[in-house]
Amino acid sequence: MKFTWVLDGDTSILKDAFDIRKKVFIYEQHVDPGIELDGLDQQLIHLIGYIDNRPVATARINLNDAKTKAKIQRVAVIKEHRGQGLGFELMEEIERWAKETNPSIEVLSLSAQDPAIPFYEKLNYRITNEKGYLDANIPHHDMEKQLN
Ligand code: COA
Repeated sequence: MKFTWVLDGDTSILKDAFDIRKKVFIYEQHVDPGIELDGLDQQLIHLIGYIDNRPVATARINLNDAKTKAKIQRVAVIKEHRGQGLGFELMEEIERWAKETNPSIEVLSLSAQDPAIPFYEKLNYRITNEKGYLDANIPHHDMEKQLN
């Protein structure tokens, strides 16, 4: 998979991320489009993975003000390409980026949909709050990974 980082809200590239997110979150998981497109995309960092020039995986990153914590959001691999290690590749690219280009980041955090918890556990994320919650009607738990 070839990666493109979008650091400046360039909508001509971001449309590839939105295509994936529309398929996965809105059509497949029936998330309300108003929740999925929350108006923050232009100001956040995005990663898109391509196979044969086709966008197949994405995530976005929200840095806190001190840039010590990166919240990973909207992690998605299109259905036809799941189970091939692309989700792992995507998450590992985020970790590489954080360590190499943003050494101030100490923690990667995310809000995991419950069915995806084993996926994140395999990447050494740990649940930080046993009490789960509903987001967009989907059960979630907070997870974190310390970077050293
Ligand atoms: N439950 C248990 N294990 C899972 C899993 C799941 N839902 N999804 C992946 N894994 C495991 C795989 O079996 C694999 O383990 P292995 O290396 O021991 O074989 C490992 O995690 C890596 O899987 P990979 O093929 O890289 O994952 P993927 O490309 O299928 O992507 C998601 C995983 C979660 C990103 C993908 O299923 C997805 O986009 N789902 C829909 C959107 C979503 O729920 N996003 C998460 C929002 S928090």
